[in-house]
Amino acid sequence: MADADRRYDLYGPDFKRDPYPTFAAMRRDDPIYQQPGLDGTTPIWFVTRYADVEAMLRDPRFVRDAARALPPEKLPPSTPLDDLLIRNMLGVDGGDHRRLRDLVSQGFTPRRVADLRPRVEAIAGMLLEPLVARGEADLIDAFAYPLPTIVILEMLGVPADDHGRFRAWANALLEPAMTPEKLAEAKRLLTEFTDYLRALFAERRAQPRDDLVSALITAEQAGDRLSENELFSTMVLLIVAGHETTVNLIANAVLALSERPDLRDALAADPSALPRAIEEFLRYDGSVERALNRFAAEDVEWGGHLIRRGEPVIFILSSANRDEARFERPDDLDPERAPNPHLAFGKGVHYCLGAPLARLEAEVALRALLTRLPNLRLSVPHETLRYRFLPGFRALEALPVRWDVRG
Ligand code: HEM
Repeated sequence: MADADRRYDLYGPDFKRDPYPTFAAMRRDDPIYQQPGLDGTTPIWFVTRYADVEAMLRDPRFVRDAARALPPEKLPPSTPLDDLLIRNMLGVDGGDHRRLRDLVSQGFTPRRVADLRPRVEAIAGMLLEPLVARGEADLIDAFAYPLPTIVILEMLGVPADDHGRFRAWANALLEPAMTPEKLAEAKRLLTEFTDYLRALFAERRAQPRDDLVSALITAEQAGDRLSENELFSTMVLLIVAGHETTVNLIANAVLALSERPDLRDALAADPSALPRAIEEFLRYDGSVERALNRFAAEDVEWGGHLIRRGEPVIFILSSANRDEARFERPDDLDPERAPNPHLAFGKGVHYCLGAPLARLEAEVALRALLTRLPNLRLSVPHETLRYRFLPGFRALEALPVRWDVRG
C-alpha cells in the first residue's frame, strides 16, 4: 500500500479543520476500512461506527501490546528510549495493565479529585487575575494550557520552578518527527526529559513526600510491583495525559461557544448546567479523536471483514460520537443532551483514568472564564484558526479571544 492508496485524508490541514464530514462518509460507505496510516505504507483498519467502536474497545482480542499479536521477528524494532516511554498501563494488557493501573488509581478517584477543587479554583483565579483587564489573549497560552498542566505537575510533585520545561518535552513525546532533523531534536529533548526524571526520582528516594512520584517510587522499591522502565513510562503517561487533553477540551468548548453566544450566556447565567454541557463538549468536539492503535491478537471476522492477526486497528472516537445511529441530531451542540453515552474517554479496561479530574478541571475552567470574562468571543475569523499536526488529537495551535472590560 502507498500514500496514493488512501481513500480518506485523515491527516491534512483541511481534514483537521473539519474532520466530521469525512467521518460521516466513512460511517456511511466504509465503516471498517483499511488504508495506509501516517507513514504512507502500513495498512491500518479504521473503525468509525459507534456500535463497532464500543464493542471492539471492550473485546480482549484487540490488544495494545504488539508482542501479544505478532511473533518476535515481526515486531517493529524497539529502542531503549521506547522501552522507557511505553511500558505503562496504556501500553500493556491483562494482568500487567491491572497492576500498573492499580498503583496510581487511588490518586484519581472521584473522591480524591473532589478534594482538589479548591486548589484547581485557586490556580484558575491566579491565571485569570492578570487577564481580566487586558481584554484579549490567546486563551490556550494564557489559560487552557497552564491550568491542567500545573494541576498534574503539582499532583506528581514536580517543583513549580521546573514546570515551564515540560511543554517542549510533552510536545516531543507526541508530535510525530517526520524529518531526520526533527527526529534528532526529539531524541535530544527526550534524553533531557529522562535525565530530569532520573534526578527527581533520586531526590524523592532520598526524601519521600506526599506526592504521586513518591508513591510510585515506594512501589518500585517494594520490588516486583514496578520496574524502573514502568516507573518512567507511568510518569510519562501521566504528564502527557495531563498536558494535551483537558487543554484542548477547554479550548474546543470555548470555540464551540463562540459560535453560540446564546449558549455561552445561558451557561454564564447558570453554571450549574456546566457538568452536563461538558459531556456534550466532549461528545461534540472532544480532544482525543482516536484511541491508540490496537492489534488483533488473532484473526477476527467483523462486519464482513477479516482482520488478520497482528494487523493494527484504530477506533475513531470522534466519529462514534457523531454517529447518527446512536445520537439524535449528532451534529447539533445540545448542552442538555441526556443521556449522553459518548466515547470521548474511551471504553473498556483502558477507560480514561483521569476522567474525574478532566471533568473537574473543565468545569472550574469554564465557570471561571464565563463568569469573569464577559462576552468572551473569538477575535479572529474562525477560518484562520489552525490545528496542530497531532494525529489523534483535536488541538488548536492558538485560540485568540476577546472579552469586554468593565469599568
Ligand atoms: C478531556 C480530557 C481527557 C480526555 C478526552 C481523555 C481521553 C482518554 C482516552 C480516550 C483514553 C483511552 C485511550 C485508549 O483506549 O486508547 C484515556 C486513557 C487514559 N487517560 Fe485520559 N483523557 C483526558 C484527560 C486525562 C487526564 C487529565 C489524565 C490524568 C493525568 C488522564 C489519564 C489517562 C490515563 C492514565 C489513561 C490510561 C488508562 C489505562 O490504560 O487504563 N486523562 N484518556
